[in-house]
Amino acid sequence: MASENSKRTLLYVSHLKKYFDVTTGFLKKAGYVKALDDVTFSLKEGETVGVVGETGCGKTTLGRTVLALTEATDGDVYFNLDSELMNKLIDLEERFYELNHKREKLPTEENELAEISKELIPLRNKYSLTRLKEREIRKYRKNMQPIFQDPFSSLDPRKLVKDIVSEPLKLLSDLDNDEISEKVGKMINEIGLSDDHLFRFPHEFSGGQRQRIGIARAIGIEPKMLVLDEPTSALDVSVQAQILNMLKEIQENRKLSYLFISHHLNVIRLMSDRVIVMYLGRIAEFAETNTLFTDMLHPYTKALLSAIPSIDPTKRKGRIILEGEIPSPSDPPKGCYFHPRCPEAMKNCGWSPRDMSEPLSEALDPFSDPALSVLPAISEIIEDENDNTLDIVFSTAITDQVRARELIVDALDKASKKANGIKFKAIKSVAFRTPDTLTIGMIEPDVPRLREVRKDHFVSCLIYDAGYNEHKGRKKIKKVTEENTANATENYENPDQARET
Ligand SMILES: Nc1ncnc2c1ncn2[C@@H]1O[C@H](COP(=O)(O)OP(=O)(O)O)[C@@H](O)[C@H]1O
Ligand code: SF4
Ligand SMILES: [Mg+2]
Repeated sequence: MASENSKRTLLYVSHLKKYFDVTTGFLKKAGYVKALDDVTFSLKEGETVGVVGETGCGKTTLGRTVLALTEATDGDVYFNLDSELMNKLIDLEERFYELNHKREKLPTEENELAEISKELIPLRNKYSLTRLKEREIRKYRKNMQPIFQDPFSSLDPRKLVKDIVSEPLKLLSDLDNDEISEKVGKMINEIGLSDDHLFRFPHEFSGGQRQRIGIARAIGIEPKMLVLDEPTSALDVSVQAQILNMLKEIQENRKLSYLFISHHLNVIRLMSDRVIVMYLGRIAEFAETNTLFTDMLHPYTKALLSAIPSIDPTKRKGRIILEGEIPSPSDPPKGCYFHPRCPEAMKNCGWSPRDMSEPLSEALDPFSDPALSVLPAISEIIEDENDNTLDIVFSTAITDQVRARELIVDALDKASKKANGIKFKAIKSVAFRTPDTLTIGMIEPDVPRLREVRKDHFVSCLIYDAGYNEHKGRKKIKKVTEENTANATENYENPDQARET
């Protein structure tokens, strides 16, 4: 294992996206699942980058899209290019993204962007695996091989082991039959089986042995990178350790790079030089392994890692239990995808009408606040995500709207000070639209970007965004946020202003 910066970048993944279409009956498109949503990272020669996250966060899709086994929706994958070209592509991609995403560009920046595009687009078309035709990808395939989770289904049950192991050599190498046979014999010994095993079928082997056969097949072609998707998750714990050790030895001997996918934190820690933590198709945090496990910054990483018991009693902290379910990637929340479950969420983290109906009906219930019992009952709350507003419809018209508004603003203010009350601070206006309908307007959420917060430590969280640096510390920015919203009544626009906007 080695992760010095001087190492050559073997793989660069730039803003990769994979959206799966969701269809309903008769192949009607109903929307899409954002399985990968803007994923950027690099993998160096001889290095292991681990990818961890809960089921459904996009790990398998990442592995498959990197290998061009799944077609990307957008973004680029550069693999095994000459160093100078690779560094140039990384630089162009970074500058392109930075300028392209600037909301207001100076004329000089518009020109620079045009210049970069002129250089970058032909290079993307020539080198990015997401843009090449299968025929052109073939020459890269030899150097990147997959190892899948399930050694039972990934080996063809009708084929002899010798044919399984020789398949990539036949397809992708220039070796003749004798050379292939010799190579297959060598491979089977390297992974700890013997020559006579070559003439057996996969069902004659245990799970661990089958995974060894899968590894022999992948490395026989002498690749530079393996993408290992939960390679030991289907195996018994005792067998897992043997396979992991073997994978480490193979990596050492062959100077291989691994993209190592697992939902097991301990396996990731053992195997990886650097770790990517994914949440709902996005990278939450990406850092050197030790840093990630001891000095994690993202609230999701903190919660995920709090599940591992610490051996050091001075470092033992309580387990962070996340509230709520993982949202569906076909309808992810606004802003930061983690905001509905984040224990550290701020008012700009993504609160939108769909987060508010239930909390509003609770906060405006006379049981929570008896002062509200003078108001008519609420008959419905209508969310409008596009307009970023909610309409609270009362069962009858209200004559003293000024007083009613005062009572409601007061109740919202109280709710904002309770546990989990931060979402109420995202309310920017409260105004009667008609005598029976009160409209609640929400602030526009911010979207966090993956930023290099410390050297080689990337985090996608608004706590660490530009404001963090401006205020030179998180405590300060939190304080500023709270002070600004301390008195909700003063923050909500007055009804006349709200009507004008
Ligand atoms: N072929 C597919 N068609 C539609 N949705 C898919 C497909 N493959 C994966 N998904 C969806 O994409 C998301 C990410 O899945 P996956 O990459 O398998 O996650 P993980 O490996 O982390 O469990 C999930 O919501 C999953 O249901
Ligand atoms: S941006 Fe950071 S603080 Fe805000 S919800 Fe996301 S993880 Fe939590
Ligand atoms: Mg998976």
